[in-house]
Amino acid sequence: MISKQTIDKIFSTIRVEEIVGEYVQLKRAGSNYKGLSPFHDEKSPSFVVSPSKQIWKDFSTGKGGTAISFLMEIENFTYPEALRHAAKKYGIEIEEDQREFSEEAKNAQSERDLLYKIHEVANDYFQHFLWEVEEGKNIGLAYFKERELKDDIIKKFQLGYAPEKKNAFTEYASEKGYAKEILEKSGLSIFPENAPAGIDRFRERVIFPIHSFSGRVLGFGGRILRNNVKTAKYLNSPETEIYHKSNVLYGLNQSKQAISRKNVCLLVEGYMDVISLHMSGIENVVASSGTSLTTEQIKLIKRLTENVTILFDGDNAGIKASFRSIDMLLAEGMNIRVLLFPEGDDPDSFARKHPQEYVEKFIENEAMDFIDFKAEILLKDAGNDPIKKAEAIRNIVKSVGFVQNALKKEVYLKEVSNKFGLSEQSLFNELDIQKQITQNQHQHVQQQKEHAPVKMEIVPLDNEKGDPFLYDVLFMESKLVDHMLMFGDIVLKREDEKNGEYQITVIEEILHHFEEEQYIFLLKGNETIINQVKEGIQKDELRSGNFFISFMDEEITSKVVDALLPVDELENWGSRNIYPPNYGDNIAEQIKGDVLLHKYRYIDYLIQETASELSKYSTTDETKYFELIKKITLLKQASMKLSDIIEYSPIKGIYGDRKR
Ligand code: CTP
Ligand code: MN
Repeated sequence: MISKQTIDKIFSTIRVEEIVGEYVQLKRAGSNYKGLSPFHDEKSPSFVVSPSKQIWKDFSTGKGGTAISFLMEIENFTYPEALRHAAKKYGIEIEEDQREFSEEAKNAQSERDLLYKIHEVANDYFQHFLWEVEEGKNIGLAYFKERELKDDIIKKFQLGYAPEKKNAFTEYASEKGYAKEILEKSGLSIFPENAPAGIDRFRERVIFPIHSFSGRVLGFGGRILRNNVKTAKYLNSPETEIYHKSNVLYGLNQSKQAISRKNVCLLVEGYMDVISLHMSGIENVVASSGTSLTTEQIKLIKRLTENVTILFDGDNAGIKASFRSIDMLLAEGMNIRVLLFPEGDDPDSFARKHPQEYVEKFIENEAMDFIDFKAEILLKDAGNDPIKKAEAIRNIVKSVGFVQNALKKEVYLKEVSNKFGLSEQSLFNELDIQKQITQNQHQHVQQQKEHAPVKMEIVPLDNEKGDPFLYDVLFMESKLVDHMLMFGDIVLKREDEKNGEYQITVIEEILHHFEEEQYIFLLKGNETIINQVKEGIQKDELRSGNFFISFMDEEITSKVVDALLPVDELENWGSRNIYPPNYGDNIAEQIKGDVLLHKYRYIDYLIQETASELSKYSTTDETKYFELIKKITLLKQASMKLSDIIEYSPIKGIYGDRKR
């Protein structure tokens, strides 16, 4: 866990305009910057960055937040991943909060750190050899050039070269102070009995580093340079403490933005397939690296998209083995299409033969849904044999059984029914039988499914449009919370009969109002913020906008940003039918008015609520009935009194009459 101090340091060091500036071209616009939204295709800029408030807001999608939440959005990082990324950029050393770790866990952590480090060292070493050393240039670089790779793509994938000399890297790393133990654990060196000083795992091979989702090097694949050598074509890092094959997809780091933007992930088999597609401009692609797909890998993709297109070589022998991958993808709720390349082609050769547009069109037009795909493969085998044909259909229905969504399942069954001229009922029956057969397997997949974290909702507890009274209270409730966020620490001068002249902060005044009314919050998000503010007061801190900006809840952050960066920061708001809030110059008056208005609307709401309760008791419980009548009378009196005050207060001019 990253320590609180480090998190604070990161937030106080990083600059939102610098981090965002790496992804979005920003232009000065007054005290802010503006640019085109990276989340949405647009022609006029609706993306605003405020250097003074250290936040950003994308008015086209409604997203907004801090530099950290920007990294989370654009790189699909988790919160800690984004923090680590920012820390690295600014050279901030991450201090881990070790309190809850045992001695053993601490050691494990530092060992993992060392493993990451040595992979970085090796990655630099292999690249250095490829670009700078004669052997690397003559053999490694020449090999990549022969395969038509351009310099920029070789650099993008950080491809390298491991020299012929048996212990080149081991020697280099040992001199840098890496111990035998860590070299061995990393899998980069081997220590056989006849060579106790150690030899390199990767020798005389071109190197493909394998990156994590967030871009750390976890391991390597090394390819021999000549196909006729009698050794495995690819040699890969072994499983280590940081490299778990089943959790990694090759190319994910380089492709994640395109996958998320295009909302589809192309799944290929090999390193070169990923790289060649990138080179031709198709960047939403990952490779399972020759192994069969795992649930963990599917979950990695699912962070970015629910749509997968599997690309197969034209002469792939393992197509039937892929059926399992299809079922797993379906079980994880993914939508699948499958594409067979023409015989003799794999994605790599196909992408090098044809221009980008052709390849894109080909994928778009030729990819089949999984039913057509399985039908094509299985029926080809079945020929005219009715028993085999029935088996093929059963096989397809079995896959449909993995679809989780009932509606989708039915659509697929309809498709099967149309395709084979069978009744839907018979297919449903078949599905039932299948269900019993696959139940064990199925349960297993279910158990592996993570429980989605419960997200804090900022939604009305009731239908806002259905109840105008409720909606009016909600609106003012949010407005008051916005005031606390925006002007929380401003000190107001007040005067009343009881206290004479006194000073009070905006936070205290609004909080006091909520407490006096024993107000029950209608929006959970607001309640969370208020509870945090209260906790702050007990600790003698004034928790206002900046406090919540670094708060870990995404939805709270975006609410705070909405409050801190109102829409009038955007010039052309009018054309978008967005109207800026009409802030009076006098915050003190504004707050006073809004508190009154909230109270007034709350009372109206309570009257409505009580009246509907009343109808329940009119014939059953006389005492209760009269109690409620009395309550309504009192509420109505309070409402009238307030309406008089509001009538003479300046806020009427701001809000006008309520429309109902
Ligand atoms: N693979 C592996 N070990 C092997 C063979 C293959 O790890 N001995 C993995 C690699 O990730 C490889 C993928 O399986 O990229 C697909 O294998 P293959 O189709 O044989 O390789 P290509 O990607 O086509 O490689 P190339 O074009 O360089 O021959
Ligand atoms: Mn190939």
